[in-house]
Amino acid sequence: MERLDRLARLGAVGDDGGITRPGLSAVEDDAHTLVAGWCEEAGLAVSRDAAGNLYARPADSPAAAEIWSGSHVDTVPSGGRFDGALGVVAALEAVIEVAAARPGAPLAVVVFRDEEGWRFRNGCFGSRSVVGDIGPEDLAQRDAAGISVAEALAALGLAGPPVDVALPAAYVETHIEQGPMLESAGAPLGDVAAIVGMAGFSVTFSGSSGHAGTVPMSDRSDAFAACAELAVRLRDRALEIPGSVVTIGDVAIPNPASNVIPGVVRASIDVRAPSIEALDLLVAAVPAVAADVAARNRCGVDAARGGRWQPVALSNRIRRSIRAAARRTEVPITELVSGAGHDAGVLAAAGVDAGMLFVRSLNGGASHRPDELSDEADVAAAIAVLAETLRSLL
Ligand code: HGY
Ligand code: MN
Ligand code: MN
Repeated sequence: MERLDRLARLGAVGDDGGITRPGLSAVEDDAHTLVAGWCEEAGLAVSRDAAGNLYARPADSPAAAEIWSGSHVDTVPSGGRFDGALGVVAALEAVIEVAAARPGAPLAVVVFRDEEGWRFRNGCFGSRSVVGDIGPEDLAQRDAAGISVAEALAALGLAGPPVDVALPAAYVETHIEQGPMLESAGAPLGDVAAIVGMAGFSVTFSGSSGHAGTVPMSDRSDAFAACAELAVRLRDRALEIPGSVVTIGDVAIPNPASNVIPGVVRASIDVRAPSIEALDLLVAAVPAVAADVAARNRCGVDAARGGRWQPVALSNRIRRSIRAAARRTEVPITELVSGAGHDAGVLAAAGVDAGMLFVRSLNGGASHRPDELSDEADVAAAIAVLAETLRSLL
């Protein structure tokens, strides 16, 4: 089956005009089942851990000192066909190619669960399970429908973490860049030096609801006005800190109505920065600004910190292998930093030699959107370089 056929087949799972495969959902599970079938057709031995992560290994490969390659198949709502899926398809193709010449090679295709994390506000669930970073509070997180992580796992027949998996000797993740840098550099592939740091918050403003027509502006405790002011203040703060970004992407007004003043507003806040110092500035700003705008709008506020990931450098050993493989394969490659989070960052932070191979995004780097795109030639080049990298690591 052609590579892009596999991506197209995966893209048909959860196709709603974009791709919607929420983490730990039946739709993500359908995608895992599709990939597991491809791995079995290729003669790989398939297994699943208690968190639902999928592993596919060449027959009689020693399950020790392994080299893993993979990514995730969950997506954001109405996302693209390449985010995560490209890395899984590339890993499958490369492992098939390398194992054909090296029977019993200690290789594994790995598909991590719920990397995106938007459903439970808890990114990289699968890879964090593997490194032992999931605790009871993570399993108790609830989605917008009130379903907990533990309940979602049980619905999939999964016991949930802890998982009994030995960490690999190396991990190489192929991923669409999700930004404009490779396209503007004219390079088909990227060698990722580091992944930015990030932190999440859930902020709740509590004001007082009321009639849209009869409450004078001077008497209002409008929770949405507070939230809107927070968004503008944090945007301006991020503009002052080079390389940092702030996103408020999920805002909820319970029982919304056009003629009712919002009494409660809940908002997600995602902050990212390339250095620990810059990240700390943003992390400090969120509760401080939230308290100030709440007071200015006569509202209460609760700013709950979620996950926090330090910026992480990827393995020099793996990066050297990736660049040497690109040279041998005569594919141009350039260094860059990832503004997106990845499972590779979780493994790297846990001490695994992890590296990433980025594939050029077209359409100006559009991602987390249906028009996310890489072209076939770049995908083929990435698979060739990935296979060469895995060979060189054996
Ligand atoms: O949000 C991210 O950076 C990734 O797409 N999960
Ligand atoms: Mn991804
Ligand atoms: Mn993503």
